[in-house]
Amino acid sequence: MQRPCLPLAVVLIAGLSLAKAVEVEVHGKDNETCIYAILSVNFTVHYEGNGTMENTTFWLPNSISSNGSVCGGNNSAPLLKMNFGTGHSLSLNFTQSAGEFNGDVLIFTYNTSDAKLFPGAKNKSVKHVSVNSLMEPAPLNTIYTCRSVKAIESEAVVMVFWNVSIQAFVENGTIGKNESFCKADMPTTVAPITTSTAATVTPIPTKPPPELPEVGNYTVKNGSDPCLLANMGLQLNITYTENKTHLVNIDSNSTASGHCGDKDATLVLEDMDTTIQFHFTVDQSKFFLKEVKVNISLVINGSTTAFNSNNSNLKFWQAFVGSSYMCHKEQTIVVTEQLVINTFNVRVQPFEVKNGTFSRAEQCKTNEKYIVPIAVGAALGAIILIVLVIYIIGRRLNYSDGYEQF
Ligand SMILES: *[C@@H]1O[C@H](CO)[C@@H](O)[C@H](O)[C@H]1NC(C)=O
Ligand SMILES: *[C@@H]1O[C@H](CO)[C@@H](O)[C@H](O)[C@H]1NC(C)=O
Ligand SMILES: *[C@@H]1O[C@H](CO)[C@@H](O)[C@H](O)[C@H]1NC(C)=O
Ligand SMILES: *[C@@H]1O[C@H](CO)[C@@H](O)[C@H](O)[C@H]1NC(C)=O
Ligand SMILES: *[C@@H]1O[C@H](CO)[C@@H](O)[C@H](O)[C@H]1NC(C)=O
Ligand SMILES: *[C@@H]1O[C@H](CO)[C@@H](O)[C@H](O)[C@H]1NC(C)=O
Ligand SMILES: *[C@@H]1O[C@H](CO)[C@@H](O)[C@H](O)[C@H]1NC(C)=O
Ligand SMILES: *[C@@H]1O[C@H](CO)[C@@H](O)[C@H](O)[C@H]1NC(C)=O
Ligand SMILES: *[C@@H]1O[C@H](CO)[C@@H](O)[C@H](O)[C@H]1NC(C)=O
Ligand SMILES: *[C@@H]1O[C@H](CO)[C@@H](O)[C@H](O)[C@H]1NC(C)=O
Ligand SMILES: *[C@@H]1O[C@H](CO)[C@@H](O)[C@H](O)[C@H]1NC(C)=O
Ligand SMILES: *[C@@H]1O[C@H](CO)[C@@H](O)[C@H](O)[C@H]1NC(C)=O
Repeated sequence: MQRPCLPLAVVLIAGLSLAKAVEVEVHGKDNETCIYAILSVNFTVHYEGNGTMENTTFWLPNSISSNGSVCGGNNSAPLLKMNFGTGHSLSLNFTQSAGEFNGDVLIFTYNTSDAKLFPGAKNKSVKHVSVNSLMEPAPLNTIYTCRSVKAIESEAVVMVFWNVSIQAFVENGTIGKNESFCKADMPTTVAPITTSTAATVTPIPTKPPPELPEVGNYTVKNGSDPCLLANMGLQLNITYTENKTHLVNIDSNSTASGHCGDKDATLVLEDMDTTIQFHFTVDQSKFFLKEVKVNISLVINGSTTAFNSNNSNLKFWQAFVGSSYMCHKEQTIVVTEQLVINTFNVRVQPFEVKNGTFSRAEQCKTNEKYIVPIAVGAALGAIILIVLVIYIIGRRLNYSDGYEQF
């Protein structure tokens, strides 16, 4: 009954690297942001090569230009155009009605005369593929977010999207604080992506020893200025059935993104199969980690399973705004019963980063678990007192016995 799982384990480990999230903003008059998007896409194109049909796969690269994008106005729809490579582009225009916005037509344009992406192509020409099913309607002033993988197939092209966040019709140049999630991201999603009968769950064999995660240095920028810094090693401990756990170390090369505000800041770490979102907030003069969201795909018993965990009632990593929080010892953040994050060598500063460096650090022992030190201190004090009393009584007895001490 048990299938060999070794290749799947290899896929899982190999898959935990390489993530390309592309961020783009379109600015209108007064430089105000009118369209904001962050997304990961890979394209597979079937084309006629030298005698045979070929497939080519490439990612939407980080270096794109948004030339040709328009904010839209009374008579024109907003258009997001992402140009890349030599003559390729991905564009999406938007509509709005009844307090909601939606993507309208998505056009992928590719140029087979690009010998890098289309080696040996017989017909060198510019081709277009258009579909209209990338987004679902989202309320205005929210960020439409879809972390789930969505594959769109049309003619000779397969486009795979994931970790998509889009906002059009941005008001006053301020990107929305709230996200509206696509249906695929909605809760009750401890569901397998591929349907499978819940049969024997074989743990992945040849499990590597639980090495400690590498410490990643992550930066979120506001324009070109770093506005959030986080150095930390992260390990996920996922309970996928009763008593069966799986450890995943987060790649220290994960892509960091997010945004910074006065009272709220987010850090999003992504690699191919994992997205972790940290939400920091300010209460009075202190900041703390309030919310963690984790989406991860794991291959368990031969099928890919998505785990989505979220906890917005946390209070970790608290420090004064203007300083950084630091903790060398391992900490455990319980996100859900199913998912726990072990953190190592944390240093974070989500607010008021000056000059791209951490400010003065507040160490964890000074502001957390101080009940334990107090208890230990009280116990030590009691022991010292007892020792002192015994010593004094001892001296008195010695005197009464007539001995000299010195
Ligand atoms: C708009 O932004 C560009 C680059 O970000 C900058 O060079 C330019 O001065 C800005 N213009 C205004 C009016 O703020
Ligand atoms: C494209 O991305 C999807 C989602 O991450 C992944 O499953 C698929 O293997 C990728 N395709 C290629 C050819 O890399
Ligand atoms: C096409 O294939 C033929 C025979 O396999 C070869 O001689 C020719 O150089 C190839 N042309 C290109 C452009 O690769
Ligand atoms: C190319 O992709 C098509 C459709 O996805 C698939 O049927 C075909 O087997 C692929 N061909 C090669 C050579 O990988
Ligand atoms: C953007 O488009 C304008 C006009 O179409 C052109 O002059 C300019 O060179 C383009 N810039 C880039 C970076 O392609
Ligand atoms: C849009 O219409 C309003 C009123 O009809 C007008 O004041 C505004 O200038 C128009 N905007 C553009 C970009 O044409
Ligand atoms: C979006 O672009 C397509 C193709 O260019 C066009 O047919 C459609 O009318 C546009 N939608 C809007 C709302 O302008
Ligand atoms: C944009 O600015 C206007 C006027 O200052 C205000 O009424 C409106 O609420 C603002 N919208 C957002 C989304 O901040
Ligand atoms: C991360 O930052 C720490 C402290 O600032 C530094 O010692 C370490 O070399 C950095 N690591 C990388 C990979 O840049
Ligand atoms: C992972 O979680 C399980 C169950 O809560 C626990 O027994 C195990 O010690 C944890 N492992 C690590 C490395 O934290
Ligand atoms: C991270 O990137 C660096 C430099 O690109 C590379 O040397 C290192 O092997 C990568 N680490 C992992 C775990 O992929
Ligand atoms: C910012 O950093 C640079 C280079 O490390 C340094 O020369 C400069 O004095 C710093 N500025 C402030 C305000 O700390």
